[in-house]
Amino acid sequence: MNPGRRPISRNSDGVVEIVDQTELPHRSVVIRLQDLEDAAEAIETMRVRGAPLIGATAAYGMALATARAADDAALAAAHRRLLATRPTAINLKWALDAMRDRLLPLPTEARAAAAMALADRIAEDDVAICSAIGDHGLEIFRALLAAKPAGARLEVLTHCNAGRLACVEWGTATAPIYKAHAAGLPIHVWVDETRPRNQGASLTAWELAERGVPHTVIPDNTGGHLMQHGLVDVVVVGTDRTTADGDVCNKIGTYLKALAARDNGVPFYVALPSPTIDFTVADGVAEIPIEQRGGEEVSHMRGVTEDGRIETVRIVPEGAAVANYAFDVTPARLVTGLITERGVIAATREALAAAFPEAARAASGKAGGREGGA
Ligand code: MRU
Repeated sequence: MNPGRRPISRNSDGVVEIVDQTELPHRSVVIRLQDLEDAAEAIETMRVRGAPLIGATAAYGMALATARAADDAALAAAHRRLLATRPTAINLKWALDAMRDRLLPLPTEARAAAAMALADRIAEDDVAICSAIGDHGLEIFRALLAAKPAGARLEVLTHCNAGRLACVEWGTATAPIYKAHAAGLPIHVWVDETRPRNQGASLTAWELAERGVPHTVIPDNTGGHLMQHGLVDVVVVGTDRTTADGDVCNKIGTYLKALAARDNGVPFYVALPSPTIDFTVADGVAEIPIEQRGGEEVSHMRGVTEDGRIETVRIVPEGAAVANYAFDVTPARLVTGLITERGVIAATREALAAAFPEAARAASGKAGGREGGA
């Protein structure tokens, strides 16, 4: 793969292409999305994944659908199909609603061009948002580093892949890391492997290596021990949905890291692009739907053999019962701060509403429309 190739892009013929993340880090495979079904399948099977990238792919899915049929019924069907692909990341609904709201008032014949233009803009906006998150996070890193002995490196722990592969560019949690590394700050990243799908071991480690950022992959159980021994200065994670009250839903296991961070006085930051805020929900534990995925992700593992074959093996006794909750919720009280594109804010209703008043207002105007749909 070309270093730095975006996980979603349009080629010189205007065709939407994705990097198939189910093949990383062992193979680089680029797939063309030709129609709505291709986009929906790519999200469902996690060829594309990560909240911002799911949103961008859904936007392109709407655009591809609109290129075939642009009447109101077709738009509604495309919105419904894509919304059903994954339940937890709110960027999916945010992007689909944005597409629908932009397209419905237009004459049918103007919709296809407008849809592709808006999908492109959603993708480019994500790049700008993540870059701004990087700038604000960098200031936190600089302050933490200034408090360490001269010459010491900043030790960051991250979970899952909230990197450039989860977005269009930069990543959310990785944006400050990339900016710090580029600015010459000494930095090292502890990468949680992130069972069961190993987004940390497979994807975060791959993209940090691509950019030359020093890092070490650790089993998910290791973070607490590292924190007890003063080996983590800051935890930075992404989020799939953050509530109006500041509860943070992210990849399963994030909550345990937040608990360990609190017990050890380690700051715990969440990198939060505004499309990931769901102002229609307050209590994350009670209200956010948590995706449960197939048991084979727990019972089996995929990897490369010494002689280069990619194989899947079972790691539990045959027939063992398994459970696969894909996300958990970290209560706002455990979050040191939210690194947003508009600055670092407290994980509180007041701070979120003050930073993003237009989104907070829009959500209160849509009371009762929580489930949405075209
Ligand atoms: O199941 P995934 O791989 O889509 O989950 C991704 C995560 O949980 C990320 O941490 C989150 O989307 C933030 S990405 C910038």
